[in-house]
Order: sequence, then C-alpha cells, then structure tokens
Amino acid sequence: MPALLQIRGLSAGLQGRRSVTQVVSEVDLDVQAGEILGVVGESGCGKSTLAAAIMRLLAPPQVLQSGAMILRLPDGKSFDLLELSDRDLRHLRWRHFSYIPQGSMNSLNPVLRVGRQMMDTLIQHGLSSDEAVARSIEALELVNLEPRLLESYPHELSGGMRQRVIIAAAVSLQPALIVADELTTALDVVTQRQILQELASIRDELGATIILITHDMGVVAQIADRVAVMYAGKIAELGAVNDIFEAPRHPYSQGLIGSIPRESGQRVEGLPGEAPSPWNYPSGCRFHPRCPKVFAPCGEQAPLLLAQDSERWTACHLYDAEVAADV
Ligand SMILES: Nc1ncnc2c1ncn2[C@@H]1O[C@H](COP(=O)(O)OP(=O)(O)OP(=O)(O)O)[C@@H](O)[C@H]1O
Ligand code: SF4
Ligand SMILES: [Mg+2]
Repeated sequence: MPALLQIRGLSAGLQGRRSVTQVVSEVDLDVQAGEILGVVGESGCGKSTLAAAIMRLLAPPQVLQSGAMILRLPDGKSFDLLELSDRDLRHLRWRHFSYIPQGSMNSLNPVLRVGRQMMDTLIQHGLSSDEAVARSIEALELVNLEPRLLESYPHELSGGMRQRVIIAAAVSLQPALIVADELTTALDVVTQRQILQELASIRDELGATIILITHDMGVVAQIADRVAVMYAGKIAELGAVNDIFEAPRHPYSQGLIGSIPRESGQRVEGLPGEAPSPWNYPSGCRFHPRCPKVFAPCGEQAPLLLAQDSERWTACHLYDAEVAADV
C-alpha cells in the first residue's frame, strides 16, 4: 500500500539577512494510512518547524527550502502538497488534513462563543448553518464534550476542555490526516491520558492518520504505533514503538529512553550536554559531540537514515555496514 503521506527530502529553515539557516534537513518519511506516528525529540530539534512545513504553514522568517510531499487520500485522489496554490490549500485544509498547532488551546477567540468559532470554519467550507451545528455536536461528542458547550465562552472552560474543543474543530470535517503538535503538554497527567485515549478513538472511528509531535517519550509510549526520533533537524531513528522502546539502536534514542523514570524514586541518567541550535549544528553526525559511542567517521561524515529491515531505520554509522567495513 502506498503511504498516505510520502515526504521526501524536506528541508526548511530560517531566512536571515544574507542566508537561510537550515532547521529541518532532508527529512524522508512515509506515514501509513490509519497509523499514529509519534515524532519525538528534545526542545528545539525542529519538530514544530517540520509540522508547519508539512502543513504548508511556515511563517516568515521560516522558509521551505526543498522537498516533495505527496498526500494520497483514501478515495484515490492525490496531491503534491508543495505544488498547491494558497487557494487550493485553504480548500483542502480542514477537509482533508488539519493541524493542531503547539499552544493552540490558548488560541480560541475570547469574545466569541465556542459554537460560533467551530461553525465559522465549517460554513467557510460550504456547510449550511444547520449542518455546521450538527457536525460541531458530533465532533464534540468524539472528545466527550456536551453539545451545550457550544454556548460557552472559552474562559468558562478548563484547559483540558479548551484543548478538546480545538481537537473537535480540527476533526469536524473528518480529515484523513491530522497533525497535532504538543497536544497535551500543558495539561495534568490524568487529562493528558484521557485526551490521548480520545485521540486514539478518533483514529478508530474516523479512520484518520495522526502525526503526533511531542518532546515526551511517555506520550509516544501511550498512544503511537510508530515513532520517528528527531535530533537537530534530522530523523535519527524510525520504527515501531515497541521495538524502539525495547531495543533502541541510535545512541540518541538510547539516551532519551534511558532518561524515562521506570519506577517511582528511581534515579535516571539524563542525556549529557545540550541539543545544538540550528546556528550551531555540528559537522558530520550532528549528535557526535554528545554521543558515548562516537568513533572515527562521525565528526566528518553525516550518517544516512538506512533501513535495517522493512520496519526499522537508523541514521548512525554503527548500523552502516559500508562505514563499519572501512574503520
Ligand atoms: N520563527 C522563528 N524565529 C526564530 N527562530 C525560530 C523560529 N522558528 C523556529 N526557530 C528556531 O528553530 C529551532 C527549532 O524550533 P522548533 O520550534 O521547530 O523546535 P521544537 O522541536 O518544536 O521545540 P519545542 O519542543 O520547544 O517546541 C529552534 O532553535 C528555534 O529557536
Ligand atoms: S554516527 Fe557516530 S556519533 Fe552519530 S550516533 Fe552513531 S556512533 Fe554516535
Ligand atoms: Mg515545538
């Protein structure tokens, strides 16, 4: 089956006065229909830039540098997202793919009722007022909110309820692809767990595909089928969540997973050092200054994301037979 979303060589950066500083570098990723793909990495590694690039919502000084992104809808239609005009994008966004940006639970307009805000988007997409009300109520039910909430103002809702309203709005046109950035970061653990469960049932009920961006490995473990581990603008490792949690291959994934407390009170070793900013991405393997397994080629030669089998990819010279043979 071809992937629902096929991303090739996607690079995005920040436009400076003289040049562009690359933030996301040549990302290749196939997102399979119906999966929940977690994208995880430390703060500043380029997750939100990648999400906005996929959604064609980069805002200056962010710029798209290169790549191709093909979205293949379940009805057989396909689009090259990078070739679409702004008008086409406005038409397709929400209906076929929708985006829940980082911090969006604070983006509701405080002076408009929730119902007005949800319905405006639906009406802009051609629904009548009655259809928009019905769709909004159905969408609220998906996140366990009652229809009477349509009459509420955002300040009358808790953070968890506002985040649910945002999710309901994003899924109200039943898009095939949902990209959600740090959906539960600002919420308490119980609300976080409930919202992740609701997201999983939205996937099941609507047959949607979800890219879930987070810095929290715990979130990935709770809900994702596969995970792409990002470091300094590149994918370090990609595979099934269980496989990567049980036996991470990339030294960065090993560090991230080793930093998760397993039992209460257990001391954990954090990753030493700090993630580099895009203005200071190291040469060769961008992880090499922090890597406990660094060896000869790592400082100069950038590792490629290579498949070890049909389900597992790692960008590390330790798993590149050609490099290992030369050392
Ligand atoms: N509009 C912008 N202006 C200046 N720098 C930016 C901008 N957008 C991104 N950056 C920089 O690009 C890098 C990647 O940012 P991005 O927001 O994509 O990271 P992230 O992985 O989503 O981080 P977080 O986990 O903190 O949300 C960071 O160093 C950030 O400071
Ligand atoms: S390529 Fe080298 S520096 Fe990079 S993660 Fe692998 S061993 Fe470490
Ligand atoms: Mg972010």
